[in-house]
Amino acid sequence: MILNKVSDLIGNTPMLGIDVPGTNARLLLKIEKNNPGGSIKDRMARNMVLAALKSGRLKPGGVVIESSSGNTGIGLAMAAVEFDLHFIAVVDHHAAQDKIAVMKALGAEIRFVAGTYREDEVAVVERQRLAAELASQIPGSVFMNQSDNAANAGGYSDFVRETIAQAGGQIGAYVGCVGTGGSMTGIARGLKLHNPDIVTVAVEPAGSIVFGHPGYPYYQSGTGTPAGDTVGLVLDYSCIDMGIQVTDAQAFETARYVARNLALLVGGSTGGAIYKALELIHKGTLTGNVVVPIADGGEKYLHTVFDDKWLEERDLLEPGVAAQLDTWLGKTRWLESDATPLQLSVA
Ligand SMILES: Cc1ncc(COP(=O)(O)O)c(C=O)c1O
Repeated sequence: MILNKVSDLIGNTPMLGIDVPGTNARLLLKIEKNNPGGSIKDRMARNMVLAALKSGRLKPGGVVIESSSGNTGIGLAMAAVEFDLHFIAVVDHHAAQDKIAVMKALGAEIRFVAGTYREDEVAVVERQRLAAELASQIPGSVFMNQSDNAANAGGYSDFVRETIAQAGGQIGAYVGCVGTGGSMTGIARGLKLHNPDIVTVAVEPAGSIVFGHPGYPYYQSGTGTPAGDTVGLVLDYSCIDMGIQVTDAQAFETARYVARNLALLVGGSTGGAIYKALELIHKGTLTGNVVVPIADGGEKYLHTVFDDKWLEERDLLEPGVAAQLDTWLGKTRWLESDATPLQLSVA
C-alpha cells in the first residue's frame, strides 16, 4: 500500500510477544516508537490538532502552542507541517536535547522558560504559564493544553482497536505510564469497554504526585506529575485499577537491560512500565496477555539513560535490577539448566 501523507504512518504499530517463564503470562509490547515521530504521542498530537481545526478554534495558517517535554511537541511539529500551521514549543532544560533538536528540524519554534532550575527539577508550572501567556498575545494561536484537553485521551481509540485485534481479543492487563494521563485514560477506558475485567495499571515515577505520594525530583522524562504541578483534568482515575510507583534506577536499568537482552531500544519511562509489569506478573497479580506500550525509543536518551557516566554521576546505577530481571525472565534458570560442563577432548 502506498500512503499519501506522513500522518497516515501513525498507528498500526507492531506487537512483540514475550513469554514470562514460570507464569501463565505473556508481555505484549506494542511498539509505539515506530510511529513517525518516534512515540505514542503522535496519535494524540494529530487528534488535538484535528479537534481544534474541526471546532474552528484553530484556522489553517494559525499557530499551535504547547508546553511539552518533547514527544507531544514532536507530534505537534509534524501535524503543524501537514496542516499548514506554525508550532511554538515551550520547553525547559529537563527535555532531552535530542527531542528539542528534532522539533527544530521539523520547523518548530522553541521557547525556553526563563529562570534557573535544578537539573532534576521540571519547570512544568512555568512552562504552562508561558504557553498560556503566548497564546493570549499571538493572534490566531491556540494553546493545546494537553493535560486538560479531552482530544488527548480521545487520540488513543485506534491504539485500543489495534491492540484488541492483535491480541485476538484476549487481554488480561494493561500497564502504562502516566504523565498527563491521556494515554492511560484513553486506552484504559477503551479496553474496559471491550472487557471490564482487564486490569489497568498506571505507573508513575517515585517522586511524582499523581497517586497522592509526597513529591520530590525525579529524572524520568515525559512521565509523572512533579510536585508543585496539578494533575491534569484529562486523567480519569475511575478507569485505573492500580496506581504504582517506579524508581528512576529501576526504570533506567530495565531500559538498558531490555536493549542488551532483547535488542529493543526503549525509553526510560517504558523501562519503568516493563519492570512493574514483570513484578506484578511474578506476584500473580497480572495474568494472561499483559500489554505494555513502548511509549518511545531509547534513541532519544543515548546521552542520559544509556550513558554510564551520566547515570553514575547521579547515583542511578543499581546492578541488582538486572539480576532481578534475569530471575523474572528465566535467564538464571536457563543458564543453570544449560550449564553443562565444558568438555575438552584432547587428541
Ligand atoms: C516517554 C513518555 N512516557 C510516558 C508519557 C506519559 O504519557 P501521558 O501524557 O499520556 O500520560 C509521555 C508523555 O509525554 C512520554 O513522552
